[in-house]
This record gives sequence, C-alpha cells and structure tokens, in this order.
Amino acid sequence: MKFSTKAIHNGQKPDATSGAIIPPIYMTSTYVQESPGNTKGYDYTRAGNPNFTNLEEALASLEEGKYATIFSSGLGAITALISTLKSGDKVLATNDLYGGTYRIFTRVFSQFNIQFETINTQDLKEVEMKMSEKPKFILIESPTNPLLNISDIAAISTIAKKHGVMVVVDNTFASSYFQNPLLLGADVVMHSTTKYIGGHSDTIGGLLVTNDLELKQKFDFGRMAIGLNPSPFDAWLTSRSIKTLGVRMERHAENAMKVAEFFEQHPKVKKVFYPGLKSHPNHEIAMKQMKGFSGIVSVEFNCDLETTKKLISSLHIFSLAESLGGVESLVDHPASMTHASIPKAEREKIGLADGLVRFSVGIENIEDIIADIENALAKI
Ligand SMILES: Cc1ncc(COP(=O)(O)O)c(C=O)c1O
Repeated sequence: MKFSTKAIHNGQKPDATSGAIIPPIYMTSTYVQESPGNTKGYDYTRAGNPNFTNLEEALASLEEGKYATIFSSGLGAITALISTLKSGDKVLATNDLYGGTYRIFTRVFSQFNIQFETINTQDLKEVEMKMSEKPKFILIESPTNPLLNISDIAAISTIAKKHGVMVVVDNTFASSYFQNPLLLGADVVMHSTTKYIGGHSDTIGGLLVTNDLELKQKFDFGRMAIGLNPSPFDAWLTSRSIKTLGVRMERHAENAMKVAEFFEQHPKVKKVFYPGLKSHPNHEIAMKQMKGFSGIVSVEFNCDLETTKKLISSLHIFSLAESLGGVESLVDHPASMTHASIPKAEREKIGLADGLVRFSVGIENIEDIIADIENALAKI
C-alpha cells in the first residue's frame, strides 16, 4: 500500500463491538484481569493502551519500519533512547540541533556521566574521525532546526555501520511523508509528533521507530519504567491527524517553496535557508534523500535585531509562537525563544545569528501568506 492509503487504514480498524468506523478513545488507567496475570494484553496504561497500539501500528508503517513506540513528547522519546545507555557512554550529535535536545544532554544527562559531543555531520570526514571515540549512537537532525542544514543520512549510516555505531535520525522537520531514514540505513527514527505528525498544534507527543525487536523492547521498557507515556486522548488525536499527513505536507512544501523564492529575491533579505532552493549548499543531498522539502524556511534580514523584531511583530497570519508544523503559520525568533538554551557562543559557532527568524509556513492560502510578509517588510 502507498503512504496515503496506509495513513488512513493502518491502525484505524472500526470498533468490533459497535461497528463505529473510528476506534474509541480508551480513557482508562487500568484493565480488569480475569485471574491474576490473565489479561487481554493490557494491564496499566503507563505500560500500554489500545490507542497507543493503534497509533504505533500506523506510524511504524508510515516510517517503513517494523516497530514503533510513542511517548509523552519528543524529549520523552529522547529520554527513552538515553535510558538504553550506561554511565560513561558517549553520544555524538549534529551541531545544529533543537535547543531542548541540546539541553537534555548538557544539563540533565551530563549529571549521570552520559558524554555528549556535537559535530558537523555535514562533514563526512569529521564523522569518520569521531567514530574512533566509540560513541554508542550518532544523533542526526536533518533538516536541522533552525538552520535547515542537510546531512547525508545514507553516507553517515555506511560509515557508522563499519564502526558498529547506531544511527538515530530526528525526522521531525521532514515528517515520514518526505523522508524515511530507515530506508537510508538508519537504525532508529525519532519524531516530535507535536509537529507535522500531529499537525494541528493541539497535542504533544514523541515517537521512536526501529526494525530491531530488542531495541523496541528497550523503548517500551523505558516508557513504562520512567513514565514517559502519552495520554490515550493525545494518541487518538494523533491517529486522527495522520490521515491528512500526506495532503498537509504537500501543501506545506508548496507554500514554503513560494515563500522561500519570495524571500530570495527581496532586497531586504540577507540570506534564506530552505533545502528546496538550488542555492542551498546541500540541495543535491536533499534531492537524493527527501521526496519534498517540507514547510520550514529560515531567514536573515538586512537590518539590526530591533528592526527584525519589529518585522516579526508586524506579521498577522504568522503568529509569534514556539513550535512548528501545525496547519497555521507560526514565526519564531530562535535566539530568544526555541534555542535560548544554547549558549550564545555555541550558537555563533554554528552560524545561528541573533537576527535569524524561523517561519513555519502553514497551509493557508499562499496569496494571503505572501501578502502578510510583504506588508511586514514594508513596515521596516
Ligand atoms: C527537531 C525537534 N526535535 C525534538 C523536539 C522536541 O519535541 P517535543 O517538544 O515534542 O518534546 C523538537 C521540538 O521543537 C524539535 O523541533
């Protein structure tokens, strides 16, 4: 089956008892046992729930993987991943990373002696060189948040495999519709389902997908033992949302391409970051590993920080808010919002300027979106 058929039918079976076409929400903490230990497959919702099972079946198939585990948030998924490590183990990660991912390693798990180092995963020589330090896994974000950098997932997977290092890809920005890292050789795919998979800015969730049963069991154990489970209602809402993932992503990408092209020709714009543009330094790699370029465009303007902030405040269709990937357009100032947890010196090292603005282009009418941007640019 193709993506959009799987998105509507996998894990979405009508209710056997009533015939309801939409599976019910199992808002329950516990399950009646016929005799001690004799369950119908569920004993406590921290460990499992039919809404989790339904969503996991669907999301595993959309990521072209065998097994999925859902979590309370993207950072919950990363916590489960880290729970498979031991004190002293090392993790490598892309240097341009979501601020919260950076923070969980540097401010939380560093206290438990989990070693963490960020590297330029766009540079395959650097990746190869760092393998001698025997990391347990390498975490690649591609495209990155917020600079939209692209790393070659297949090439990194080949290098890592030679050294017995596991490859984890944060696929949040691309979504399962535009990129399937397991098919490129990665071992684990991670998502903040809060973003495109949820798509309506009304749930927080996380996901890990793998083809390795032993890993899946460790992720399930992590969720149950640490308490990283989502609410059944959030799982149900996400199951509802993924039915339109394909059509939403097509429109996000179409709108984002037009926004990126508009910015690229505008005299008040200094630099546009979007992997769909030919001017993007890794456009060729993006073409090779992605089916589309998704909906995030970052921009630096030809003005000082105060004027950039004025421009942000002059937007009306774009709401100023953290997060991304919902149907409504959002604008973010990474240096003071989503990436404030990364020290300024670190941000500067990777080229994340204080004036950078991140646009999550929604699926509104493109003429209205461009008119909103034009209007804001005219005010500076
Ligand atoms: C790329 C990326 N990974 C992970 C996360 C963390 O996900 P959550 O906010 O669902 O915990 C985010 C959140 O913005 C993100 O953008």
